[in-house]
This record gives sequence, C-alpha cells and structure tokens, in this order.
Amino acid sequence: MAVLVTGGAGYIGTHTCVELVSAGFDVVVVDNLSNSSRAALQRVEKIIGREIPFIDADIRDRAALQEIFGQWQFEAVIHFAGHKAVGESVQQPLRYYQNNVEGTLTLCDVMAEHGVKRLIFSSSATVYGDPVTVPITEDFATGATNPYGASKLMVEEILRDCCKAPGSALQVSLLRYFNPIGAHESGTIGEDPRDIPNNLLPYVAQVAVGRLEQLSIFGDDYDTVDGTGVRDYIHVVDLARGHVKALQKLLDPATAAGCFTYNLGTGNGNSVLEIVQAFARISGREIPYRIAPRRPGDIAACYADASRAERELGWRAEFGIERMIEDTWRWQSGNPEGYAGDE
Ligand code: NAD
Ligand code: WQD
Repeated sequence: MAVLVTGGAGYIGTHTCVELVSAGFDVVVVDNLSNSSRAALQRVEKIIGREIPFIDADIRDRAALQEIFGQWQFEAVIHFAGHKAVGESVQQPLRYYQNNVEGTLTLCDVMAEHGVKRLIFSSSATVYGDPVTVPITEDFATGATNPYGASKLMVEEILRDCCKAPGSALQVSLLRYFNPIGAHESGTIGEDPRDIPNNLLPYVAQVAVGRLEQLSIFGDDYDTVDGTGVRDYIHVVDLARGHVKALQKLLDPATAAGCFTYNLGTGNGNSVLEIVQAFARISGREIPYRIAPRRPGDIAACYADASRAERELGWRAEFGIERMIEDTWRWQSGNPEGYAGDE
C-alpha cells in the first residue's frame, strides 16, 4: 500500500518513513531539500534495508506532482513539507504563506484530480496561541501569534472547508504536534538544523558537543515550577508512530469522511532548566548557560491533553524525557556536524 510523504527527507519525515515501512507500508518521498539533505534519506534506507523512491521536487510544482501521482497509486498522503521557523516567518511572511498555504493547495488539488482522498497534515500546538490553561484539549480556542502559526491555522481551516463540501469523500487527520525531540535509536538520523538552532534541544545538544558556546535561557520569571518555560517534549519516534496510527484509522473502512483533529504530546511538561540539567547529566558534558530576557511571543507553559488520540487512535507516547535526551545525545555526539559529512 503506497503512501506519499511530502517533506519526507526532513526531521519528522525521515523518522516517519522508518515507522511506516516497519508497519508494512510502501513509501514514496517528495522533497525539495530546502531544509534537508539526500543523505538523510540514504540513512533511512540503511535502517530499513531497502530503497525509497525519492523525487526532488517542490510541492508547488503542479506538473511535478501530477507526474508523481500518475506514476503511483497512493492510498494516502502524509504532508510534512513546509517551512517551520517562527522568527523567520515574522521576517518573511510571504515566503511562509506561499510555501505552507500555496503548497498545500496545490497538493490537495492534484490529490483530488487523482482521486486520492486521505491526508494527514502536520499541524502544531502553536495554533493554540497563549492557552488560558493547561493541559490543552483539541477544542481549546485557536489563535496565531506569528505568520508560521497563521499558516498552520489557515491550512487547518481550508482542509475543514474541503471536508465540509457537499459530497466530499475527503478524510483528513490534523495532527497538532507539541515539541518533538530525540532521534532514532540507531543514532544515524536526527534533527540537523541548517543554521543556528532556534529550538531548545538542538541548541543544548550543540552546546554539549562544543559547536556552540553557551545557551541563553529565555526568561526565568515565568509562573512555572522554576521560572523557566515549560513544554511538552515528545520523542520523534512516538510522534512518527502517531502518524502510522492516524493512517491506519483513515484506512479503516469504518472511518467516515471528515476532518479529525488530534494532539500528539505526552501530557507532561518539563522546564528549560530541567532539560538542561538532565542533558548535562546524561551527556556528562557541561552546558554553560546564562539567563537572557524573555523571547518575544513565548508563553509560560504548554502541554497536551492527548487523551483523544489514545481513545480514538489507540496511540500514546511511550518514551520519557530521559530516553528522549539519550537519543538526542547519541545522534548529536555521533554526528557532530549532522549529515554534512556524507555529502
Ligand atoms: P523539516 O524542515 O526538517 O522538514 C520539512 C521538509 O519539507 C524538509 O525536508 C524540506 O526540505 C521540505 N520542504 C519544505 N518546503 C517544501 C516544498 N515546497 N516542497 C517540497 N519539500 C519541501 O521540519 P520537521 O521538523 O520535520 O517538520 C515537519 C512538519 O511538521 C512541518 O510542516 C512543520 O511545520 C511541522 N511541525 C514541526 C514541529 C517541530 O518542532 N519540528 C512542530 C510542529 C509542527
Ligand atoms: C522551548 C523552550 C523557550 C531556545 C517552537 C514553535 C512551535 C513548534 C515547536 C513548530 C521555550 C526556551 C529555547 C533557546 C531557551 N514548532 N528556549 N533558549 O517555542 O515551545 O515551540 O517549536 O510548529 O510552533 O514555536 O520551542 O524549542 O523554541 O523552546 O530558553 O535557545 O525553550 O523560551 O521556553 P517552542 P523551543
């Protein structure tokens, strides 16, 4: 059963390809390598012991997509392709809307032309804006504080409208990820930011390995356990398996047409200081840090109520924070320059 994975050479996409193949699916990847490398997929191929058909194309390129959909018959599409840096989206809003919104529109159009009706979309906990309380359930109010978040909300809305159209057979799973971290247990694939990392874990990992000097902790005066920001970190392999479960649900003949929304998180929160201390202990490295001003747009605490995914998909996160950090460290220490050495 073939599944098209857009953005499949990226961080979450590579891990999801591994889990899809272990679950018995055939995978085809389309990626324009704007934030990833061919080497990442080659390493996936080593893990799974077989080749993955790969097309180097932009999902906004309609002709390229048409050719791909002409060549394979897909049961479903898992759609990761997009830009994801919040700060960059404030600087370059059009680039974000063009890639994230226009890309999805073109993809959906070509899917419709070829009668492909199942789509899993990478949404984000960022759509909850600054939540009134935690844990966050799927029916909380949504709101965007930056163009990246707005692009995710727009795509969610567009997909809901498409599902509501009279006679629509479309089946969509909107997966709202919390904070994915960690890496495959082999230590051969992981997160490999192109520039200085924006996210906490890759930053801490690069400090630990000596690529960066010092971590700035953005604020220690939040109303949280120790004043630093609290987030729901989820192992990327758990997240990948959530996609397999969501796909199996869409493929279940008992599943009706429509749009289904799920939080994918662990339901637990960890503070920045807790992460830094655990990382130092597990890696045996010092993590120099300083307390810096709050980062604009940041919130105090964000963690999921993931019980709907457990109830309806039979999925729950299995790995705890220690394992997430061990796997991050195995990847980072074994590949201090990421995939760069392979090319
Ligand atoms: P990533 O940048 O590692 O992967 C995205 C992939 O999409 C990259 O390989 C990139 O080259 C590709 N891509 C981008 N635009 C494309 C286009 N127009 N055509 C073809 N390929 C294109 O990011 P990731 O962390 O794996 O995230 C995957 C998805 O999950 C994204 O949509 C992101 O917004 C979403 N998400 C990520 C996080 C996170 O913290 N990593 C959290 C919530 C949601
Ligand atoms: C986590 C905590 C920071 C870096 C972002 C996006 C979100 C989603 C996941 C895509 C916060 C603190 C961070 C640093 C720090 N991505 N921090 N020093 O902000 O929860 O979520 O990534 O959808 O949309 O907004 O993740 O890893 O950037 O930050 O102190 O150098 O670490 O303030 O409390 P965030 P993050």
